[in-house]
Amino acid sequence: MRTSLVRHRMVATATAAFLGLGVALGSGLASPASAADTATLSGIILGVGANESQRIVTWYSSADNAQQVQVAPTADLANGEFPASAVTFAAAGAANIATSGGFNRHATVTGLKEHTAYSYRVGSEGNWSPAYAFKTQDFEGDYDFLFYGDPQIGSSGDVARDQAGWVDTVNVSTAANPNAELLVSGGDQVETANTETQWNAFLAPEQLRQYPWVATIGNHDVGGKAYEQHLYTPNTDRSGAFYSNGQPNGTQSGGDYWFIYKDTLFIDLNSNSYATSQGGGGDAAHVQYVTDTVKAHGGEAKWTVLVYHHSIYSPADHAKDGDNKIRRTDFPTAFSNLGVDLVLQGHDHSYSRSYEIKNGAKANPDEKPGQGDVFTGPGGVIYVTANSASGSKYYDITAPDNSGTSGAGNGADPQNPSSYWYNSVQNQEHVRSYVKVEVRNDKLVVANLRSGTCAAPNAAVELGKSPCSNTAEGQPVGSIVDKVTVHPYHADGQDIQVDVPTAAPGEFGWTIDGYNGLVDLGTAADHNGDFYAATGKINPIVVSDSRRSLAPWSISAGVGDFKDASKTFSGAYLSWSPYVLTAGAGAQASGAVPSAYDDHGEGLSVSRGLAWADQGHARGTAKLGADLDLKIPGDVDKGSYRATLTITALSS
Ligand SMILES: [Fe+2]
Repeated sequence: MRTSLVRHRMVATATAAFLGLGVALGSGLASPASAADTATLSGIILGVGANESQRIVTWYSSADNAQQVQVAPTADLANGEFPASAVTFAAAGAANIATSGGFNRHATVTGLKEHTAYSYRVGSEGNWSPAYAFKTQDFEGDYDFLFYGDPQIGSSGDVARDQAGWVDTVNVSTAANPNAELLVSGGDQVETANTETQWNAFLAPEQLRQYPWVATIGNHDVGGKAYEQHLYTPNTDRSGAFYSNGQPNGTQSGGDYWFIYKDTLFIDLNSNSYATSQGGGGDAAHVQYVTDTVKAHGGEAKWTVLVYHHSIYSPADHAKDGDNKIRRTDFPTAFSNLGVDLVLQGHDHSYSRSYEIKNGAKANPDEKPGQGDVFTGPGGVIYVTANSASGSKYYDITAPDNSGTSGAGNGADPQNPSSYWYNSVQNQEHVRSYVKVEVRNDKLVVANLRSGTCAAPNAAVELGKSPCSNTAEGQPVGSIVDKVTVHPYHADGQDIQVDVPTAAPGEFGWTIDGYNGLVDLGTAADHNGDFYAATGKINPIVVSDSRRSLAPWSISAGVGDFKDASKTFSGAYLSWSPYVLTAGAGAQASGAVPSAYDDHGEGLSVSRGLAWADQGHARGTAKLGADLDLKIPGDVDKGSYRATLTITALSS
């Protein structure tokens, strides 16, 4: 939880920035309280901040005066008036390029509290914009976000029609998911980089001032500075390596950035820069950026999601593009090695969901087309490409060739020869859609949902540029094109993890019974502020012993500290009561161990017996279980904590 102390400190910092701006621009600035301020404020958009307690607001101003964002809990407003306690955050910014006119401003709102409805406005005293509203939700735990492919306003040649489709998709998707927490861009906000009429149409949905937009730069955005003027992003590296021409101060937009939102590390790349021959750092710079960011911040998150525009595994016009074959060679092994869970992409104006890809090849030959549950192994990554969110343009699905079924190849899927080897699902119905991602404790649920039908607004179809192959019956607005549940691999330090030896005939061995999912203890119950308690069960363990020696064996386990980023509490507070679920192999349950909360002992923080068998026991198998009881002091900070249970076996 952020305290008021933090907020005060941030206000002081912001004020310094405000004064700095005044110095930089010389004399003649309007004072913040000046009634003469008549700046016209436009293009206001709410953007994502560095974490869930922040937002970044960006806008245009006709005048070059000092401006702020003012924020207050909506409950504190009286008749629409902001209270004296409203907090202001000074804006920074610069002059826009000539074709845009005016100036840009952005300010970072910090110190937000969870479960709060806020109102905000931009401008200066005496000249505020209308008030807009957003809400925060729980800063821990499950959440949903929505992903939108290529609105590319203006692409159909009819900005009004493109806007209508875009507004409708945002309306449909947020109406169906009012508690979605982020709206994530697949890039190509507009067709023509610096055309402000297209930007105005893109900014039309009122939800872009209510839900934080996660900007992504596309090939249609990159050719001018309007993208950077409109969409300020957190933690952004704007060095030359992340500009395709290597020139941050030139005429292009660019930059890579990252943020953490509720245990998800998002990394957003400017995929326009892919080769050093263009002048920038190319893919090597992106790989280094992702590597550095995961190393520095991966431990603060439970999921890693990458976002960039140019899909490397797509099904349509761009599937065989030379630049994408380069990215498809440069990226996948690094992403596998870094434990990336999900990659979100655009550019090909069609929907696809990849098979589990490891090091640039299909990871599991047995994964079936359209399989609804994917249990990824180490290095397994799912790549998703979103179709057009606006209906401004669709690309038809193209046919595989003979260039191979790994790496840069575009060969056919042996299980589904009309499809590319890398895609589990490909879809093009020429209707608008969006992608919903449910982030859960132990899974990501990714769904592609229709937000339109053949009917207007559907600009590319209305204007005869695409046929429409959607059938409204059975495929209405809100229906599902594709849905997959991604079950992650449980790597070191993430989840309860075990090392599993293989039990061979005539040997002693043990394994986890079924899928080794997260042992989820749920939300701990508060007992009058004295302590929190939660319960669960370990994933059952199967022991098999077919040795002739009939020698003793034992299974034991201990747990490390429970951690959530920098917050931690001891594994000693975890206790268990072992039992034998299915008798065999002479298995006898070990004794219960209490929580350190009750006996000031060591709980499961040291290795404790689960079960054992004496010399001379029967051959066979046994299934072992244990009830887990967690009891922790009432002063442990709120968080979503995880620990690793390490299981060891002894046999003589
Ligand atoms: Fe594109």
